[in-house]
Amino acid sequence: NNIGVIFDLDGVIVDTAKYHFLAWKNLADELGFEFTETHNELLKGVSRVRSLEILLGIGNVTISEEKKQKYLVSKNKDYLDYITKMGPEEILPGAEKLLNTLDDLGIKYVLGSASKNAPLILKQVNLLHRFLGIVDGNSVSKAKPDPEVFLIGAKKLNLPPEKCIVFEDAIAGIEAANKANMISIGVGDKKTLNKANYNFNNLTEIPEHFFEKFLSENNKIK
Ligand code: G6P
Ligand code: MG
Repeated sequence: NNIGVIFDLDGVIVDTAKYHFLAWKNLADELGFEFTETHNELLKGVSRVRSLEILLGIGNVTISEEKKQKYLVSKNKDYLDYITKMGPEEILPGAEKLLNTLDDLGIKYVLGSASKNAPLILKQVNLLHRFLGIVDGNSVSKAKPDPEVFLIGAKKLNLPPEKCIVFEDAIAGIEAANKANMISIGVGDKKTLNKANYNFNNLTEIPEHFFEKFLSENNKIK
């Protein structure tokens, strides 16, 4: 097919943001400062290392490089405790139906996530086998909003960037997709994701013939 789709994972396919929040909150508790859901918004789409830096900034805490490494390990350990208990029931509404629609239309899709845990999460929810390729936090050197993750995704799809449609719930992710010259679809609050080319509150809102429209427009998808 002449178009392809790149999915972010956390907040688009699965609601793992709540587990990231709980794990970061554990750390903030340990360090003795408050970490709220509002603070957590700043960590969405952002790499693990960068998330820790933002968190320490929120608490106004300065620590040694050695301690940072220790906290990165303990945060991920906490996070994995939640992740390894996940099952297919935690796939977000509309996600599986959307993948089925893409399969029916013969549109290829890959994952483009900042998470190093992405393959594990997809395995837990039994979706790993459905993606043509996985681009995750292990395969990129520059984090979103840098477009690297999505440009590698386009290579896996064997398509030029302008033929790729990106689903994202994070501001950094929409920015990355726009920089890559792809079609950006914001999943979540329209005001927060106001730089996206299209906006939906969640995946159940995607109109049935959304992709067919792109296909029938004879390659002119933007
Ligand atoms: C996603 C999430 C971020 C998370 C990042 C790294 O982008 O939205 O909140 O920090 O992945 O995840 P990881 O599983 O590698 O710690
Ligand atoms: Mg996300």
